[in-house]
Amino acid sequence: MTQYKAKFPENFYWGGATAANQIEGAFDKGGKGLSAADFVEYIPKDQRTKDNTMEIMSEQIRKSLSSESSARYPKREGIDFYHRYKEDIALFAEMGFTAFRFSINWSRIFPKGYDETPNEAGLQFYDNVLNELAKYNIEPIVTLAHYETPYGLTEKYNGWVSREVIDHFVRYAETVFIRYKDKVKYWISFNEINMITISPFTGGGILSDKEEDPMQAKYQGLHHQFVASALATKKLHEIIPHGKMGCMLARMSHYPYTPNPEDVLKAQKDNQDNLFFTDVHARGKYPKYMERFFIENDINIVKETGDDKILKQYPVDYITISYYMSMLSSISPEGEVTEGNLMNSLKNPYLEASDWGWQIDPVGIRVVLNDMYDRYELPIFIVENGLGAYDRVEEDGSIHDNYRIDYLRKHIEQIKEAAGDGVELMGYLAWGPIDLVSMSTSEMSKRYGFIYVDKDDEGNGTLERSRKDSFYWYKQVIESNGEKL
Ligand code: BG6
Repeated sequence: MTQYKAKFPENFYWGGATAANQIEGAFDKGGKGLSAADFVEYIPKDQRTKDNTMEIMSEQIRKSLSSESSARYPKREGIDFYHRYKEDIALFAEMGFTAFRFSINWSRIFPKGYDETPNEAGLQFYDNVLNELAKYNIEPIVTLAHYETPYGLTEKYNGWVSREVIDHFVRYAETVFIRYKDKVKYWISFNEINMITISPFTGGGILSDKEEDPMQAKYQGLHHQFVASALATKKLHEIIPHGKMGCMLARMSHYPYTPNPEDVLKAQKDNQDNLFFTDVHARGKYPKYMERFFIENDINIVKETGDDKILKQYPVDYITISYYMSMLSSISPEGEVTEGNLMNSLKNPYLEASDWGWQIDPVGIRVVLNDMYDRYELPIFIVENGLGAYDRVEEDGSIHDNYRIDYLRKHIEQIKEAAGDGVELMGYLAWGPIDLVSMSTSEMSKRYGFIYVDKDDEGNGTLERSRKDSFYWYKQVIESNGEKL
Protein backbone atom coordinates (compact mmCIF):
# COMPACT_ATOMS: atom_id res chain seq x y z
CA MET A 1 0.00 0.00 0.00
CA THR A 2 1.36 3.45 -0.88
CA GLN A 3 1.69 5.87 2.02
CA TYR A 4 -0.36 9.01 1.30
CA LYS A 5 0.72 12.32 2.78
CA ALA A 6 -2.16 14.75 3.04
CA LYS A 7 -1.45 18.48 2.92
CA PHE A 8 -3.28 21.77 2.84
CA PRO A 9 -3.75 23.55 -0.49
CA GLU A 10 -1.30 26.40 -1.20
CA ASN A 11 -3.93 29.15 -1.12
CA PHE A 12 -5.54 27.93 2.13
CA TYR A 13 -6.62 30.79 4.42
CA TRP A 14 -5.54 30.75 8.07
CA GLY A 15 -6.89 33.05 10.74
CA GLY A 16 -9.58 33.63 13.30
CA ALA A 17 -13.25 34.53 13.61
CA THR A 18 -15.28 36.86 15.81
CA ALA A 19 -18.66 38.59 16.01
CA ALA A 20 -19.27 42.31 16.51
CA ASN A 21 -21.45 41.82 19.60
CA GLN A 22 -18.83 39.71 21.34
CA ILE A 23 -15.86 42.03 20.80
CA GLU A 24 -16.74 45.62 19.92
CA GLY A 25 -18.42 47.06 23.00
CA ALA A 26 -19.33 50.75 22.50
CA PHE A 27 -22.92 49.59 22.10
CA ASP A 28 -24.24 53.16 22.24
CA LYS A 29 -21.36 54.97 20.55
CA GLY A 30 -21.06 56.30 17.01
CA GLY A 31 -24.83 56.41 16.54
CA LYS A 32 -25.33 52.65 17.01
CA GLY A 33 -28.82 51.44 17.91
CA LEU A 34 -29.66 48.53 20.18
CA SER A 35 -29.42 45.01 18.83
CA ALA A 36 -30.69 41.65 20.10
CA ALA A 37 -27.33 40.83 21.70
CA ASP A 38 -27.43 44.00 23.81
CA PHE A 39 -30.26 42.47 25.87
CA VAL A 40 -28.39 39.39 26.98
CA GLU A 41 -27.55 39.76 30.63
CA TYR A 42 -24.78 38.06 32.54
CA ILE A 43 -26.14 35.35 34.80
CA PRO A 44 -23.81 33.94 37.48
CA LYS A 45 -23.05 30.26 37.04
CA ASP A 46 -25.14 28.95 39.95
CA GLN A 47 -28.28 30.63 38.55
CA ARG A 48 -27.75 29.62 34.96
CA THR A 49 -29.90 27.26 32.90
CA LYS A 50 -29.91 26.71 29.15
CA ASP A 51 -33.22 28.55 29.01
CA ASN A 52 -32.29 31.69 30.84
CA THR A 53 -29.07 32.27 28.92
CA MET A 54 -30.14 31.41 25.41
CA GLU A 55 -33.57 32.96 25.05
CA ILE A 56 -35.05 36.36 25.84
CA MET A 57 -38.73 37.14 26.43
CA SER A 58 -40.67 40.42 26.61
CA GLU A 59 -40.30 40.73 30.39
CA GLN A 60 -36.50 40.73 30.18
CA ILE A 61 -36.60 43.39 27.48
CA ARG A 62 -38.94 45.51 29.57
CA LYS A 63 -36.63 45.20 32.57
CA SER A 64 -33.49 46.04 30.66
CA LEU A 65 -35.07 49.13 29.17
CA SER A 66 -36.26 50.36 32.56
CA SER A 67 -34.13 51.81 35.31
CA GLU A 68 -35.08 49.00 37.73
CA SER A 69 -32.51 46.72 36.09
CA SER A 70 -29.22 46.24 37.90
CA ALA A 71 -28.12 43.54 35.50
CA ARG A 72 -24.86 43.59 33.55
CA TYR A 73 -24.87 43.21 29.79
CA PRO A 74 -21.37 42.07 28.82
CA LYS A 75 -22.10 42.11 25.09
CA ARG A 76 -22.58 45.86 25.36
CA GLU A 77 -19.00 46.09 26.64
CA GLY A 78 -17.27 43.39 24.58
CA ILE A 79 -13.50 43.62 24.82
CA ASP A 80 -13.45 47.17 23.45
CA PHE A 81 -12.36 46.16 19.95
CA TYR A 82 -14.16 49.34 18.87
CA HIS A 83 -11.28 51.38 20.25
CA ARG A 84 -8.51 48.78 20.18
CA TYR A 85 -8.92 47.26 16.72
CA LYS A 86 -5.53 48.51 15.56
CA GLU A 87 -3.69 46.79 18.40
CA ASP A 88 -5.72 43.59 17.94
CA ILE A 89 -5.24 43.41 14.19
CA ALA A 90 -1.50 44.00 14.65
CA LEU A 91 -1.44 40.95 16.93
CA PHE A 92 -3.36 38.88 14.35
CA ALA A 93 -0.82 40.00 11.75
CA GLU A 94 2.02 38.99 14.06
CA MET A 95 0.58 35.46 14.11
CA GLY A 96 0.56 35.57 10.32
CA PHE A 97 -3.22 35.62 9.77
CA THR A 98 -4.17 35.61 6.11
CA ALA A 99 -7.91 35.95 6.90
CA PHE A 100 -10.04 37.47 9.66
CA ARG A 101 -13.76 36.96 10.07
CA PHE A 102 -15.89 39.57 11.80
CA SER A 103 -19.49 40.67 11.58
CA ILE A 104 -20.85 44.06 10.75
CA ASN A 105 -23.20 45.07 13.51
CA TRP A 106 -26.34 45.83 11.50
CA SER A 107 -27.49 48.35 14.12
CA ARG A 108 -24.30 50.41 13.62
CA ILE A 109 -25.29 50.90 9.99
CA PHE A 110 -29.08 51.12 10.38
CA PRO A 111 -29.62 51.93 14.09
CA LYS A 112 -33.25 50.91 14.11
CA GLY A 113 -33.06 48.54 11.19
CA TYR A 114 -35.75 50.34 9.24
CA ASP A 115 -34.09 53.78 8.95
CA GLU A 116 -34.17 55.51 5.57
CA THR A 117 -30.47 56.34 5.46
CA PRO A 118 -27.41 54.59 6.86
CA ASN A 119 -25.35 55.91 9.74
CA GLU A 120 -22.10 57.29 8.34
CA ALA A 121 -20.16 56.86 11.59
CA GLY A 122 -20.94 53.13 11.55
CA LEU A 123 -19.86 52.76 7.93
CA GLN A 124 -16.67 54.65 8.69
CA PHE A 125 -15.82 52.35 11.59
CA TYR A 126 -15.79 49.28 9.33
CA ASP A 127 -13.85 51.22 6.70
CA ASN A 128 -11.21 51.78 9.36
CA VAL A 129 -11.16 48.09 10.31
CA LEU A 130 -10.93 47.03 6.67
CA ASN A 131 -8.12 49.51 5.97
CA GLU A 132 -6.21 48.14 8.89
CA LEU A 133 -6.64 44.55 7.63
CA ALA A 134 -5.54 45.60 4.15
CA LYS A 135 -2.35 47.06 5.64
CA TYR A 136 -1.35 43.52 6.62
CA ASN A 137 -2.84 41.73 3.61
CA ILE A 138 -5.41 40.01 5.76
CA GLU A 139 -8.46 38.91 3.76
CA PRO A 140 -11.71 39.99 5.45
CA ILE A 141 -14.49 37.43 5.72
CA VAL A 142 -17.58 39.44 6.63
CA THR A 143 -20.77 38.15 8.25
CA LEU A 144 -23.84 40.28 7.69
CA ALA A 145 -25.88 38.95 10.62
CA HIS A 146 -24.40 37.38 13.72
CA TYR A 147 -27.22 37.56 16.30
CA GLU A 148 -27.40 41.34 15.90
CA THR A 149 -30.93 42.00 14.63
CA PRO A 150 -31.61 45.69 15.35
CA TYR A 151 -34.04 45.98 18.24
CA GLY A 152 -36.09 48.48 16.24
CA LEU A 153 -37.13 45.57 14.02
CA THR A 154 -38.27 43.60 17.06
CA GLU A 155 -40.30 46.55 18.31
CA LYS A 156 -41.91 47.24 14.98
CA TYR A 157 -42.29 43.80 13.45
CA ASN A 158 -41.36 41.25 16.13
CA GLY A 159 -38.24 40.57 14.09
CA TRP A 160 -37.87 38.12 11.25
CA VAL A 161 -41.35 36.68 11.67
CA SER A 162 -42.51 39.59 9.50
CA ARG A 163 -41.81 39.62 5.81
CA GLU A 164 -40.99 43.36 5.84
CA VAL A 165 -37.65 42.57 7.46
CA ILE A 166 -36.45 40.98 4.20
CA ASP A 167 -36.42 44.36 2.47
CA HIS A 168 -34.66 46.05 5.37
CA PHE A 169 -31.99 43.36 5.36
CA VAL A 170 -31.47 43.54 1.62
CA ARG A 171 -31.12 47.34 1.83
CA TYR A 172 -28.53 46.93 4.56
CA ALA A 173 -26.67 44.30 2.51
CA GLU A 174 -26.74 46.47 -0.59
CA THR A 175 -25.43 49.45 1.39
CA VAL A 176 -22.40 47.58 2.69
CA PHE A 177 -21.72 45.85 -0.64
CA ILE A 178 -21.57 49.24 -2.36
CA ARG A 179 -19.49 50.81 0.37
CA TYR A 180 -16.94 47.98 0.69
CA LYS A 181 -16.96 46.63 -2.85
CA ASP A 182 -13.24 47.17 -3.33
CA LYS A 183 -12.36 45.77 0.06
CA VAL A 184 -14.42 42.64 0.69
CA LYS A 185 -14.77 39.61 -1.54
CA TYR A 186 -16.04 36.93 0.88
CA TRP A 187 -19.37 37.40 2.62
CA ILE A 188 -21.54 35.23 4.86
CA SER A 189 -25.25 36.02 5.13
CA PHE A 190 -26.48 34.56 8.46
CA ASN A 191 -24.23 33.14 11.14
CA GLU A 192 -25.49 29.69 12.19
CA ILE A 193 -28.81 30.18 10.47
CA ASN A 194 -30.12 27.19 12.46
CA MET A 195 -30.01 29.38 15.57
CA ILE A 196 -33.43 30.89 14.82
CA THR A 197 -35.13 27.53 15.46
CA ILE A 198 -33.27 27.08 18.76
CA SER A 199 -33.40 30.62 20.09
CA PRO A 200 -35.71 32.79 17.95
CA PHE A 201 -34.69 36.00 19.71
CA THR A 202 -30.96 35.41 19.32
CA GLY A 203 -31.29 34.22 15.74
CA GLY A 204 -34.12 36.42 14.54
CA GLY A 205 -35.11 39.11 17.05
CA ILE A 206 -38.41 37.25 17.59
CA LEU A 207 -40.07 37.41 21.02
CA SER A 208 -41.77 34.02 21.18
CA ASP A 209 -44.18 35.06 23.93
CA LYS A 210 -45.69 37.55 21.50
CA GLU A 211 -46.57 34.79 19.07
CA GLU A 212 -49.66 32.63 19.26
CA ASP A 213 -47.79 29.76 17.65
CA PRO A 214 -44.06 30.10 18.37
CA MET A 215 -43.14 27.02 16.33
CA GLN A 216 -44.86 28.42 13.23
CA ALA A 217 -43.28 31.82 13.89
CA LYS A 218 -39.73 30.58 13.95
CA TYR A 219 -40.00 28.57 10.74
CA GLN A 220 -41.74 31.49 9.06
CA GLY A 221 -38.88 33.72 10.24
CA LEU A 222 -36.41 31.21 8.89
CA HIS A 223 -38.11 31.24 5.50
CA HIS A 224 -37.73 35.01 5.42
CA GLN A 225 -34.04 34.64 6.19
CA PHE A 226 -33.61 32.11 3.37
CA VAL A 227 -35.25 34.49 0.90
CA ALA A 228 -33.26 37.45 2.25
CA SER A 229 -30.02 35.51 1.93
CA ALA A 230 -30.80 34.59 -1.69
CA LEU A 231 -31.71 38.18 -2.55
CA ALA A 232 -28.51 39.41 -0.89
CA THR A 233 -26.57 36.91 -3.01
CA LYS A 234 -28.23 38.34 -6.10
CA LYS A 235 -27.26 41.89 -5.08
CA LEU A 236 -23.73 40.82 -4.22
CA HIS A 237 -23.16 39.36 -7.68
CA GLU A 238 -24.52 42.52 -9.32
CA ILE A 239 -22.45 44.91 -7.18
CA ILE A 240 -19.28 42.84 -6.71
CA PRO A 241 -19.07 40.46 -9.67
CA HIS A 242 -16.14 38.53 -8.15
CA GLY A 243 -17.83 38.48 -4.71
CA LYS A 244 -18.71 35.18 -3.06
CA MET A 245 -21.61 34.53 -0.71
CA GLY A 246 -21.49 31.75 1.85
CA CYS A 247 -24.11 30.32 4.16
CA MET A 248 -23.21 29.29 7.70
CA LEU A 249 -24.35 26.31 9.72
CA ALA A 250 -23.61 25.21 13.27
CA ARG A 251 -22.91 21.67 12.12
CA MET A 252 -24.15 19.34 14.77
CA SER A 253 -23.43 15.91 13.47
CA HIS A 254 -25.15 12.98 15.13
CA TYR A 255 -23.92 9.41 15.53
CA PRO A 256 -26.28 6.59 16.49
CA TYR A 257 -25.94 5.83 20.20
CA THR A 258 -26.03 2.07 19.48
CA PRO A 259 -26.12 -0.12 16.32
CA ASN A 260 -29.86 -0.54 16.91
CA PRO A 261 -31.38 0.38 13.51
CA GLU A 262 -33.85 2.59 15.36
CA ASP A 263 -30.95 4.65 16.69
CA VAL A 264 -29.41 4.73 13.22
CA LEU A 265 -32.67 6.04 11.82
CA LYS A 266 -32.89 8.61 14.59
CA ALA A 267 -29.34 9.78 13.83
CA GLN A 268 -30.22 10.10 10.16
CA LYS A 269 -33.25 12.20 11.06
CA ASP A 270 -31.25 14.40 13.43
CA ASN A 271 -28.63 14.94 10.73
CA GLN A 272 -31.33 15.87 8.23
CA ASP A 273 -32.79 18.35 10.72
CA ASN A 274 -29.38 19.98 10.85
CA LEU A 275 -28.46 19.78 7.16
CA PHE A 276 -31.87 21.12 6.14
CA PHE A 277 -30.48 24.67 6.37
CA THR A 278 -27.52 24.10 4.05
CA ASP A 279 -29.73 22.00 1.76
CA VAL A 280 -31.92 25.04 1.09
CA HIS A 281 -28.97 27.41 0.70
CA ALA A 282 -26.89 25.17 -1.54
CA ARG A 283 -29.51 23.24 -3.52
CA GLY A 284 -31.91 26.16 -3.77
CA LYS A 285 -35.01 24.36 -2.56
CA TYR A 286 -36.67 22.90 0.51
CA PRO A 287 -35.76 19.22 0.84
CA LYS A 288 -38.57 16.67 0.52
CA TYR A 289 -37.90 15.19 3.97
CA MET A 290 -39.04 18.45 5.62
CA GLU A 291 -42.58 18.13 4.22
CA ARG A 292 -43.42 15.42 6.71
CA PHE A 293 -41.90 17.40 9.57
CA PHE A 294 -43.97 20.46 8.66
CA ILE A 295 -47.19 18.43 8.46
CA GLU A 296 -46.55 16.62 11.72
CA ASN A 297 -45.84 19.87 13.52
CA ASP A 298 -48.68 21.85 11.94
CA ILE A 299 -46.29 24.28 10.34
CA ASN A 300 -47.55 26.04 7.29
CA ILE A 301 -44.89 28.26 5.78
CA VAL A 302 -46.43 31.19 3.99
CA LYS A 303 -44.54 31.77 0.76
CA GLU A 304 -45.07 34.52 -1.76
CA THR A 305 -45.20 33.73 -5.45
CA GLY A 306 -41.65 33.82 -6.65
CA ASP A 307 -40.00 32.78 -3.37
CA ASP A 308 -39.16 29.29 -4.62
CA LYS A 309 -37.74 30.74 -7.81
CA ILE A 310 -35.57 33.17 -5.85
CA LEU A 311 -34.17 30.33 -3.73
CA LYS A 312 -33.43 28.31 -6.86
CA GLN A 313 -31.84 31.17 -8.78
CA TYR A 314 -29.48 32.43 -6.11
CA PRO A 315 -27.88 29.58 -4.16
CA VAL A 316 -24.70 30.24 -2.20
CA ASP A 317 -21.21 30.09 -3.69
CA TYR A 318 -19.62 28.26 -0.78
CA ILE A 319 -20.47 26.59 2.50
CA THR A 320 -19.19 27.62 5.90
CA ILE A 321 -19.54 25.79 9.18
CA SER A 322 -18.82 26.06 12.85
CA TYR A 323 -17.72 22.78 14.35
CA TYR A 324 -17.08 22.24 18.04
CA MET A 325 -18.32 18.75 18.84
CA SER A 326 -20.41 15.78 17.78
CA MET A 327 -23.62 14.41 19.31
CA LEU A 328 -25.42 11.12 19.84
CA SER A 329 -28.93 10.07 18.82
CA SER A 330 -30.94 7.51 20.69
CA ILE A 331 -34.58 6.45 20.78
CA SER A 332 -34.38 5.85 24.53
CA PRO A 333 -33.51 9.05 26.32
CA GLU A 334 -31.72 7.27 29.18
CA GLY A 335 -28.02 7.81 29.60
CA GLU A 336 -25.86 10.62 30.84
CA VAL A 337 -26.50 13.97 29.20
CA THR A 338 -23.82 16.60 28.67
CA GLU A 339 -23.74 20.24 27.58
CA GLY A 340 -23.16 21.23 23.99
CA ASN A 341 -23.12 24.03 21.48
CA LEU A 342 -26.74 25.26 21.14
CA MET A 343 -28.13 21.95 22.47
CA ASN A 344 -27.30 19.17 24.90
CA SER A 345 -26.33 15.64 23.91
CA LEU A 346 -25.99 12.16 25.34
CA LYS A 347 -22.48 11.51 26.55
CA ASN A 348 -20.19 9.63 24.18
CA PRO A 349 -17.97 7.23 26.19
CA TYR A 350 -15.21 7.46 23.57
CA LEU A 351 -14.78 11.21 23.85
CA GLU A 352 -13.34 13.66 26.34
CA ALA A 353 -15.14 16.89 27.07
CA SER A 354 -14.23 20.55 27.59
CA ASP A 355 -14.58 22.42 30.90
CA TRP A 356 -18.11 23.21 29.69
CA GLY A 357 -18.98 19.60 28.85
CA TRP A 358 -18.72 19.99 25.06
CA GLN A 359 -17.51 16.68 23.66
CA ILE A 360 -14.21 16.88 21.85
CA ASP A 361 -14.26 14.93 18.59
CA PRO A 362 -11.48 15.76 16.11
CA VAL A 363 -12.21 12.78 13.84
CA GLY A 364 -15.80 14.05 13.66
CA ILE A 365 -14.73 17.09 11.68
CA ARG A 366 -13.23 14.87 8.99
CA VAL A 367 -16.50 12.95 8.83
CA VAL A 368 -18.49 16.18 8.57
CA LEU A 369 -16.29 17.68 5.86
CA ASN A 370 -16.43 14.54 3.73
CA ASP A 371 -20.19 14.24 4.16
CA MET A 372 -20.90 17.84 3.31
CA TYR A 373 -18.60 17.89 0.31
CA ASP A 374 -20.20 14.70 -1.03
CA ARG A 375 -23.60 16.29 -0.59
CA TYR A 376 -22.98 19.71 -2.15
CA GLU A 377 -19.69 19.60 -4.06
CA LEU A 378 -19.09 23.18 -3.03
CA PRO A 379 -15.94 24.57 -1.40
CA ILE A 380 -16.09 24.55 2.40
CA PHE A 381 -14.67 27.17 4.73
CA ILE A 382 -14.31 26.21 8.41
CA VAL A 383 -15.13 29.55 9.98
CA GLU A 384 -15.36 28.47 13.62
CA ASN A 385 -13.65 25.81 15.71
CA GLY A 386 -11.94 26.04 19.06
CA LEU A 387 -11.86 25.25 22.74
CA GLY A 388 -13.50 27.34 25.42
CA ALA A 389 -11.42 26.80 28.56
CA TYR A 390 -10.35 28.38 31.84
CA ASP A 391 -6.85 29.88 31.59
CA ARG A 392 -4.44 30.55 34.42
CA VAL A 393 -2.10 33.53 34.32
CA GLU A 394 1.25 32.66 35.91
CA GLU A 395 3.09 35.10 38.12
CA ASP A 396 5.33 36.17 35.26
CA GLY A 397 2.25 36.80 33.09
CA SER A 398 2.65 33.72 30.89
CA ILE A 399 -0.28 31.45 30.04
CA HIS A 400 0.45 27.80 29.31
CA ASP A 401 -2.63 26.69 27.39
CA ASN A 402 -1.46 23.28 26.21
CA TYR A 403 -5.04 21.96 26.34
CA ARG A 404 -6.01 24.49 23.68
CA ILE A 405 -3.02 23.64 21.50
CA ASP A 406 -3.88 19.97 21.85
CA TYR A 407 -7.52 20.53 20.81
CA LEU A 408 -6.59 22.66 17.80
CA ARG A 409 -3.73 20.41 16.70
CA LYS A 410 -5.95 17.34 16.66
CA HIS A 411 -8.67 19.11 14.69
CA ILE A 412 -6.26 20.63 12.19
CA GLU A 413 -4.68 17.20 11.65
CA GLN A 414 -8.08 15.79 10.72
CA ILE A 415 -8.91 18.75 8.50
CA LYS A 416 -5.66 18.12 6.66
CA GLU A 417 -6.71 14.50 6.20
CA ALA A 418 -10.05 15.69 4.84
CA ALA A 419 -8.14 17.83 2.32
CA GLY A 420 -6.28 14.64 1.44
CA ASP A 421 -9.62 12.85 1.01
CA GLY A 422 -10.40 15.35 -1.74
CA VAL A 423 -12.58 17.84 0.12
CA GLU A 424 -12.21 21.29 -1.40
CA LEU A 425 -11.30 23.49 1.54
CA MET A 426 -10.95 27.26 1.56
CA GLY A 427 -9.53 27.88 4.99
CA TYR A 428 -9.57 27.47 8.73
CA LEU A 429 -10.59 30.20 11.17
CA ALA A 430 -10.20 29.53 14.86
CA TRP A 431 -13.08 30.88 16.92
CA GLY A 432 -12.21 33.77 19.20
CA PRO A 433 -8.50 34.28 18.37
CA ILE A 434 -8.67 36.88 21.10
CA ASP A 435 -10.67 36.20 24.30
CA LEU A 436 -14.20 37.51 23.88
CA VAL A 437 -17.60 37.43 25.56
CA SER A 438 -19.15 33.97 25.35
CA MET A 439 -22.24 33.77 23.18
CA SER A 440 -24.11 31.24 25.31
CA THR A 441 -23.14 32.30 28.83
CA SER A 442 -21.83 35.88 28.45
CA GLU A 443 -18.81 34.87 30.51
CA MET A 444 -15.30 36.14 29.92
CA SER A 445 -13.78 33.17 31.73
CA LYS A 446 -14.77 30.86 28.88
CA ARG A 447 -11.73 31.71 26.84
CA TYR A 448 -10.95 30.67 23.26
CA GLY A 449 -8.13 33.08 22.45
CA PHE A 450 -4.50 32.91 21.46
CA ILE A 451 -4.50 36.39 22.95
CA TYR A 452 -5.52 36.84 26.57
CA VAL A 453 -7.71 39.78 27.56
CA ASP A 454 -7.52 40.94 31.14
CA LYS A 455 -11.18 41.06 32.06
CA ASP A 456 -13.25 38.83 34.33
CA ASP A 457 -16.89 37.73 34.42
CA GLU A 458 -17.87 40.70 36.60
CA GLY A 459 -16.32 43.13 34.14
CA ASN A 460 -13.18 43.94 36.16
CA GLY A 461 -9.77 44.17 34.49
CA THR A 462 -7.44 46.39 32.52
CA LEU A 463 -8.43 44.97 29.11
CA GLU A 464 -4.72 44.57 28.46
CA ARG A 465 -3.85 42.01 25.78
CA SER A 466 -1.13 39.34 26.18
CA ARG A 467 0.14 36.38 24.20
CA LYS A 468 -0.60 32.82 25.36
CA ASP A 469 1.61 29.83 24.45
CA SER A 470 -0.92 28.98 21.74
CA PHE A 471 -0.15 32.33 20.08
CA TYR A 472 3.37 31.17 19.20
CA TRP A 473 2.15 27.70 18.30
CA TYR A 474 -0.50 28.99 15.86
CA LYS A 475 2.08 31.31 14.27
CA GLN A 476 4.23 28.34 13.33
CA VAL A 477 1.17 26.41 12.07
CA ILE A 478 0.38 29.27 9.71
CA GLU A 479 4.00 29.79 8.66
CA SER A 480 4.30 26.13 7.70
CA ASN A 481 0.82 25.96 6.07
CA GLY A 482 -0.21 23.36 8.61
CA GLU A 483 2.92 21.20 8.38
CA LYS A 484 4.29 22.06 11.83
CA LEU A 485 1.57 21.05 14.21
C1 BG6 B 1 -20.97 29.65 17.86
C2 BG6 B 1 -21.30 31.11 17.65
O1 BG6 B 1 -22.16 28.94 18.07
O2 BG6 B 1 -20.24 29.27 18.95
C3 BG6 B 1 -20.36 32.06 18.37
O3 BG6 B 1 -21.35 31.45 16.29
C4 BG6 B 1 -20.03 31.51 19.74
O4 BG6 B 1 -20.97 33.33 18.42
C5 BG6 B 1 -19.33 30.17 19.58
O5 BG6 B 1 -19.28 32.36 20.54
C6 BG6 B 1 -18.89 29.54 20.88
O6 BG6 B 1 -19.95 29.49 21.77
P1 BG6 B 1 -19.84 30.05 23.25
O7 BG6 B 1 -21.18 29.91 23.79
O8 BG6 B 1 -18.83 29.19 23.91
O9 BG6 B 1 -19.41 31.46 23.12
